[in-house]
Amino acid sequence: MEIKIKALREQMESGLNAISSKKDLDEFWQAFLGKKGAVTALMKDLGQVPKEDRPATGRVINEFKSYVETRYQEARERIEELELSARDKTEQVDITLPASKNKVGSLHPITITKNEMINVFSGMGFEIFEGPEIEDDDHNFTRLNVAKNHPARDMQDTFYVAEDILLRTHTSPGQIRVMDAKKPPIKVLVPGRVFRSDSDATHSPMFHQMEGLVVDKTITLCDLQGMLDAFVKEIFGSDTRTRLRPSYFPFTEPSVEVDVSCFECGGCGCSLCKGTGWIEVLGGGIVHPRVLENCGIDSKEYSGLAFGIGIERIAMLKYGINNISLLYENDLRFLKQFRD
Ligand code: DAH
Repeated sequence: MEIKIKALREQMESGLNAISSKKDLDEFWQAFLGKKGAVTALMKDLGQVPKEDRPATGRVINEFKSYVETRYQEARERIEELELSARDKTEQVDITLPASKNKVGSLHPITITKNEMINVFSGMGFEIFEGPEIEDDDHNFTRLNVAKNHPARDMQDTFYVAEDILLRTHTSPGQIRVMDAKKPPIKVLVPGRVFRSDSDATHSPMFHQMEGLVVDKTITLCDLQGMLDAFVKEIFGSDTRTRLRPSYFPFTEPSVEVDVSCFECGGCGCSLCKGTGWIEVLGGGIVHPRVLENCGIDSKEYSGLAFGIGIERIAMLKYGINNISLLYENDLRFLKQFRD
């Protein structure tokens, strides 16, 4: 047995020296320590050793086995180190190269405009409220004084989801929801997405509005004009003036269309204002007493003002965007111009 071990030891030493890769290492393990390996075979031979010699021979074999295991472990560490340093050489990083920049996103112009608008109005004490995009006919039309067969319903091409259920055509139903939930004094903004079957260079089937509603004692058209005047000065510049024109909305009486003096030409007339010196920006008015009553608010005690602003319209005017679809195409060449 000892001769056998001696021969094996020599064999193992030369085997160890020949190891230069992970593959060699595996083969070595199989040849000596594996199930069919030479060291394992020694254990099997122990049966043929005379009984009285077995403990001593067994010990010798075990010592030899753990010696082989130690040598194997050493070889393994040597190979791993070798492979690591080989990899370090091929994967060297050139720290003088310019770093690849992370692409940084930016807020969408609609979001920038919306935030700016909210900023101005929150400075006047407005709270934010958001209503559902899928509305019922009652909130979107009826309680806003747009009766079932009212011709005003033709003004808005509605997407119906089911009978009496629709994608809101404006943020005005937010007025009803706020007045149902809250007693005056009320001062809220309702920003959100709205939907109409309409599409051209300045209209999109989905767009954004911001509704404003103030209900209190003695609210007048002067309050509306004062607030909107301050608003447009913040958004378009301090030289901007406002002009109210009579208009019609079923939910306000009187109703007004609000124009701003053209910030491109200062009011002399140019292509942006089509030579008129004025640009229409929003609609508003004094809340119709019937709308207040529909929400359980005594119209003799309280009055209100309301307005609705198209966020796309403001963004397009402010940034000189001539086609609304640019706002929805997610073209990075367009969007990255709005990075701070
Ligand atoms: N809801 C109107 C629209 O979408 C805009 C509007 C006009 C809202 C007058 C108002 C308002 O609150 O008083 O065309």
